[in-house]
Amino acid sequence: MSQTSDRRRILSGVQPSGKLHLGNYYGAIANHVALQDQGDAYYFIADYHALTTVQDRERLAELVRDVALDYLALGLDPAKATFFRQSDVPEVTELTWLLATVTGTGLLQRGHSYKDKVANGITPRAGLFLYPVLMASDILAYLSDVVPVGKDQVQHIEMTQDMAQSFHEAYGCEVFRRPEALMAEGAAVVPGTDGRKMSKSYSNTIQIFAEGKPLKTSVMGIVTDSLGVDEPKDPEACAVYQIYKLVASPEAAAEMATRLAAGGYGYGEAKKALLAAVNEAFAPARERRRALISDPDYVEDVLRAGATAARSVAREVVGRAREAVGLARASVTDT
Ligand code: ADP
Ligand code: TRP
Repeated sequence: MSQTSDRRRILSGVQPSGKLHLGNYYGAIANHVALQDQGDAYYFIADYHALTTVQDRERLAELVRDVALDYLALGLDPAKATFFRQSDVPEVTELTWLLATVTGTGLLQRGHSYKDKVANGITPRAGLFLYPVLMASDILAYLSDVVPVGKDQVQHIEMTQDMAQSFHEAYGCEVFRRPEALMAEGAAVVPGTDGRKMSKSYSNTIQIFAEGKPLKTSVMGIVTDSLGVDEPKDPEACAVYQIYKLVASPEAAAEMATRLAAGGYGYGEAKKALLAAVNEAFAPARERRRALISDPDYVEDVLRAGATAARSVAREVVGRAREAVGLARASVTDT
């Protein structure tokens, strides 16, 4: 865990809300793993956020464990990045309150994510409404410089900038750093098996750690048009190829594109090639995941060590925020 101050701090949170899929991998996780070599990376499992949608104790514990295993198996290296559970640093909930007191409700009412979730039937509770404030607190409590996120989260980073500014203006201080969103360069939107964006909420995913029959069923179930084997096909309009080019080597992808365009190559064959490519690409990660499952103490130790390091940063920053608003630097029970 590098703490050197001259390196930019990179921070992102992952909601433990279901099995991770290829969209998550190519849209976010691969980028997180690559960034751990380019700065002081902090990654956390956003379990406080998950409470806005998961209200089942056992399920939450299982989802948190899954994300930890998945990230470690996919290459997150605890020697390079600080990896922890959001709720192991309760200071972020305290900072959430301090920020909420300087945040206009209009700002939150304009939140796309809030409006989308409510439109999709999630009950509009206060926690869901305050979700962006909790997220701002995550970002500001660790003095993050760069926040790698998908497009859907960019507005939350802009809100974070606004909240930091409101706090500084209200109290005439400079406690926080201004964070910037970082969108993965050229990160494509990965199509799902029905051609829409791959997403848990559409049940159209290909899960990273699915194997055998379930994996085969999802890959073979990718919806294609009805062109016959002999007819020439447009690779760019084909979800199988769109996914294949992310998973396979550039040469193999170019070969599939040529074959599809030439005709005489059916979607069934393309799907088999995709299945083989997924199996090959994720075999080492599956192996590591199995090893991690058999060593739960290791995973827990990683998260605890990460929380200890993260908490010392948050304590310091939230302490300064407390002082700025006129509270004692630490609560009397926290000395
Ligand atoms: P889901 O849509 O399955 O609920 P999340 O919203 O939890 O996924 O997304 C977690 C991360 O994965 C975000 O950074 C998001 O931008 C990225 N992501 C999710 N689906 C895709 C996709 N189909 N293509 C690219 N990135 C994706
Ligand atoms: N809201 C983010 C998502 O759903 C997860 C998250 C929580 C996050 N806190 C964060 C991301 C702080 C970046 C920074 O993907």
